[in-house]
Amino acid sequence: MVSRDDFVGRDVISIEDFSKQEIDYVLDNAAEIKARMGNYSQRLAGRIMVPIFVEDSTRTVMSTQMAMLRLGGSVVDFDVGKSSFSKGETLEHTFKVIDSYNPDVVVMRHDNDGVAQLAADLIKAPFINCGDGKNFHPTQTFLDLFTIREHRGSIDGLKIAIAGDLMYGRPVHSLAEALGLKYEGCNIKFISPEQLKMPKDLLKRLKTKGAFFSEHDLEDLELIINSGDVDFLYMTRVQRERFPKGPEGDQMYEDVTSRYNLKRNIIKTPKPGFKILHPMPIFNEVARDIDDTEYAHYIPQAGNGPPTRMSLLDLIVV
Ligand code: CP
Repeated sequence: MVSRDDFVGRDVISIEDFSKQEIDYVLDNAAEIKARMGNYSQRLAGRIMVPIFVEDSTRTVMSTQMAMLRLGGSVVDFDVGKSSFSKGETLEHTFKVIDSYNPDVVVMRHDNDGVAQLAADLIKAPFINCGDGKNFHPTQTFLDLFTIREHRGSIDGLKIAIAGDLMYGRPVHSLAEALGLKYEGCNIKFISPEQLKMPKDLLKRLKTKGAFFSEHDLEDLELIINSGDVDFLYMTRVQRERFPKGPEGDQMYEDVTSRYNLKRNIIKTPKPGFKILHPMPIFNEVARDIDDTEYAHYIPQAGNGPPTRMSLLDLIVV
C-alpha cells in the first residue's frame, strides 16, 4: 500500500524509479490539487526551490516554478546565462555549493545525458530532473499520463501511436517505459523514419516485459489514424539540436522533416474521442489548421503541467 511517506525526500530522475502504484498515487494527488488548488496555497510556505535550467525551456521551467509558487514556496532567481558556468566553473563545484546552501528542492534541465544523476548524488535536497539530454523527462511523463487518464478514464489497455523522433526524444522514451513497463495491456505503435527509431535497448526491455508494440514507417501514419483503433496520437518534433553537426546532420533533418507533416485533411475516420498529444514546442510536424479541431489536445496537456508538478513537489519536499 503506497502512502505519502513513500515519497518524502525522494529524487525524481526517471519514471522507471516509480512503481505503477506510486505513479497512480502522484496522479490521484494531482487530480485532487487540480480540483481544489486554493487549498494548497500554504503547503510549502517557507520552502525554497533552486532552478538550474542550462538548456532552454518554456513549459517545464515556467510550470515547475509556478507549481512551487502556488504551493506557497519561493523560487531563487538563478539565471544560468549570467552564472559562473559561463566562466567555466565545474558542475561538481556548482552542485556542492548549492548543496551547502541547504535548499529545500533543486530542479534542473541539462543538455547532457546523466548530469541529473550527478546532481542528485551531490545535492542532499530532493532533486527533480526536468530533462537530461536525450535520457529522461519524468515530469513530462507524469503530466502525459495524467492527461491520458483524465481524458480516457484509465491508462491500462490504452492504444496509442507515438510518432516522430523516437531516437532523441526524451519524453517518448519515458512515456514508452511507463506504458510498456508499468501499465497492463497497452498497445503502442512506434512511427518514425528509419534513422530515428526507438533505441534498441528500450525495445528489448519492452519485449522482455511482454509489452505489446509494433514499429512503423512515417508513411503508415495516415493509415494508423484512420484505422479507428488508436485513442491518442503522440506527436513529437524532430530535434535538430541532437542530430550530428554539419552537412550530414542537415541532410538527415531535411529528409525527415520533408516527410513528416500531419495535416487536417489526413484525419478522416479516427476513433471516437481520438486526441493528438505533443510535449511541444510544435513546428511543421503538426499543421496549424489542426489547432482548432476537436483532435488537438496539446494545450490542455501543457495546462496539466502545474498541477502535476505541484503533486510531485507536495509529496517529495520535506
Ligand atoms: N515539453 C517541454 O519540455 O517543453 P519545454 O522544452 O518548453 O520545457
